[in-house]
This record gives sequence, structure tokens and C-alpha cells, in this order.
Amino acid sequence: MAESERVERPSQRHSFARTAVVWEKLQPLLVGSPNPPGSPKAVDAPRAQRVLDIGGGTGGFAVRIAELGHQVTVIDPSPDALAAADRRAQESGVAARVVGLQGDLGDLAAGRLDHDLADIDLVLCHEVFGVVEDHRAALSSIAKVLRPGGALSLLVRQRHAAVLSQAMSGHFQQARRLLDDPGADREHRFTAQELRDLLDESGYSLQSLQAVRVFADLVPATIVDLEVGAIAALVELERAVAERPEYLTLATQMHALAVC
Ligand SMILES: C[S@@+](CC[C@H](N)C(=O)[O-])C[C@H]1O[C@@H](n2cnc3c(N)ncnc32)[C@H](O)[C@@H]1O
Repeated sequence: MAESERVERPSQRHSFARTAVVWEKLQPLLVGSPNPPGSPKAVDAPRAQRVLDIGGGTGGFAVRIAELGHQVTVIDPSPDALAAADRRAQESGVAARVVGLQGDLGDLAAGRLDHDLADIDLVLCHEVFGVVEDHRAALSSIAKVLRPGGALSLLVRQRHAAVLSQAMSGHFQQARRLLDDPGADREHRFTAQELRDLLDESGYSLQSLQAVRVFADLVPATIVDLEVGAIAALVELERAVAERPEYLTLATQMHALAVC
């Protein structure tokens, strides 16, 4: 499905702007897909990649990756989220390539998931690390399921944007607490250096660290929804700053791509 077809509804447009740079960073890892729906299978087609989406929620990324011909396993503790992911996969005609497993990162670490989870090419862990207590243990359990040279796509909340956002809402004490305590609002928010150190100390080699949602969360929805061409221009602006380190401190999220 073309990107433009995905963003017809206003809520989809904002969501598209928020995830565009993450998706674009992942796409080069997913090219050479074996048999996207409707295409004949090439004789020398590369194999389908094994992708694991931890905390994959309602399957937004998982289904898009399955549409490219890859095999995706979604792990999530929420049965409702898994049911929604399954519905989404059915509607997109890729249910055979998306497997949902109820569980969490702790189950992965303890080997409690009754499924073949080895030699994974790409692990997605998006917007989950903030609620995980032991980040090093989580990275270690992910490393165990990745094949050598496999990649981790890690999307986390960035601390300084949260301080700014709280202050702009008039919550000055909460902003002050967040400044020095990364877990002041129950969800851990990372600094860029903290994330770099964590990945490095856990044996991962950082390939890229990009700023995500630098502007998308600040722009009023009415502008994005009503002005012709606004969404494309916003995404272009997000792209333009994503790799500029000075924008990392303004970004709601940071996206790390790392191999181990
Ligand atoms: C904010 S949603 C993100 C969903 C999806 N990754 C995305 O980017 O759209 C967080 C998801 O993580 C799941 N989750 C919460 N704690 C988890 C844990 N310890 N291990 C794995 N998933 C968890 C939740 O059920 C939820 O579906």
C-alpha cells in the first residue's frame, strides 16, 4: 500500500508524521523482501527475514513489515492489543506471517515463551523500555535471540523534551523532578548519552541514533489536519533534523539502531 493511502484520516496523518523517520530507517534492512503479496516469487529471492516485535501492541509496525513479505512475531502482555494486531493482519491479508504471543520481556528472558525465538534478524522494541526495570537484563535477553549481526531497533522517550513539555504546561515542580530523576513520572526517560552508554556496555554497536518527533508533538493538530501539504512538509522537516545531534535534546523520542 502506498504511503499516501495510509494517511487519509487525520489521526493517521499525525501518526504517520510521528513514525516516518523510524520507518525510513528500518526500510533498508527490509528491502529485498521475498514475496510481497501479489508478486511472483523470484527464483533467486532472498529469504524472508525473521522479525520480533517486543511490546508490538496493536501491530502497526508488525503488519507493515509482514506486508513486505517477512515473518513477524509480536510479543505483548495485553490480549486486547494482540487481538487488535491479529485483526489488522487479517485485514491486510498477512495473518499467516504474523504470530502473536502473550508475554513480556521477562518471559523472553526466562525462556517462558513456547515458540522458536532464535536467529532473529531484527528485533523491534518500541516504546517499551520506559516501563522496564532492568534495561541491561532486557538488552541481554534480546541479544540472545538475535542472530550474529542481527539488529535491534530501540525507540525510547527522551528526557529533556519531557522537562520542556511539563514546564510549558505549567507543571514546574514535575519538570524540576524530571530534570534529575529520569523515572519521576513512572516511565523512564533517557538522555542520549545514557542510551549510548547502555547499548555500549551491553555489547551492542550503535549504528545510528536519531531524533524522533521533534516537531510533530508541538504542532497543533488543526494545522496538520487542515492545511494542504502540511503533513508532507512536517515529515520533511522531521527528516531534516533527525540526524542532527543538536536536535536530540528537543525530540520526544530517540531511535537507536544497534547490532550485536
Ligand atoms: C506504548 S505501546 C507501544 C506499542 C508499539 N511498540 C508501538 O510502537 O506502536 C507499549 C506496549 O508495550 C507493552 N508492554 C508493556 N510492558 C511490557 C513488557 N514488560 N514487555 C513487553 N511489552 C510490554 C504494552 O502492552 C503495549 O502494547
